[in-house]
Amino acid sequence: MSATLSQREKMYRAYCEFFDAGEKKRRWNPFSDVPWEKLNPALNTEEDAICLETFCGVELYIPDYTSNGFALTRHLFGAAWFEATWGYEESKHALVYREYLIRSGLRTEEQYLDYESKVLGKVWKLPFQTRRQMNCYGALQEAATYLIYAQQREKAKVNGNELLEKIYFLVSRDEAAHRGFYQRILQFELEEDHEGAMEDLAHVVFNFVMPGVGLIPEYEDRLEVMGVGITPQYFLQHGVFPLLRLLGTDRAELLKYYRRSKDRKKEAAAEQARRMDGRSAECRRSDPDRAGRQAMPHAS
Ligand SMILES: [Fe+2]
Ligand SMILES: [Fe+2]
Repeated sequence: MSATLSQREKMYRAYCEFFDAGEKKRRWNPFSDVPWEKLNPALNTEEDAICLETFCGVELYIPDYTSNGFALTRHLFGAAWFEATWGYEESKHALVYREYLIRSGLRTEEQYLDYESKVLGKVWKLPFQTRRQMNCYGALQEAATYLIYAQQREKAKVNGNELLEKIYFLVSRDEAAHRGFYQRILQFELEEDHEGAMEDLAHVVFNFVMPGVGLIPEYEDRLEVMGVGITPQYFLQHGVFPLLRLLGTDRAELLKYYRRSKDRKKEAAAEQARRMDGRSAECRRSDPDRAGRQAMPHAS
């Protein structure tokens, strides 16, 4: 799907604003802007370790996220440059989690490296195939990630773990900014092509899964640990419904477009099947032997 001139212009301006705000307000250094001197291993639990390790694992797929993202966006300045800045910002998340796991003694270096090898032994693939669908996915996934990290930030605060609180504050602030960018682009997409963008949004909402599913070792077991994830109800209330409100839509409209896109796909599949049947019949009429030969590719 190629971008219109107005999409290119809007995307460029949105990226410039995202970049400018990031440079002025959100740049941070995992080594010097985090109060490592406040590290207190006595405050840590195995629950914290599992949360940090799982989050670190999901953040480790930067090479796959960015290579796939660039392939979808390279023709569009604002989107491709966002991908570059986004990748840089996300890269610090895995870095700071890794540092915390090892410096705190929650994991030895050997344990961490073994985990990292298992994580990177699998490859993340695009869950949706177009830039607009991935934009919808980004808005939802960043919202979910923000909510998970914000809960961890509160938990660290209650436990008096100032270091972990600061880490989750810095990382969740980045995720909130990413969510904001994707939401803004989604608003542009709706202005450009309301029906198409709504169908994509509905398709992504109803097929949404977090990036770690099927990749992170023992992911299902990890979800049993408090704080690794959020419940579907919490995600709907605090992630999905606020997004729909911001976009000026609601559940009823989303459902309408979801049904419409499903019907359209069914019709397309039926049409394809009719065409295939028609072609086979044509083929059999014009050369009955040829059809038989084609069914046996090694016979010629
Ligand atoms: Fe992240
Ligand atoms: Fe993010």
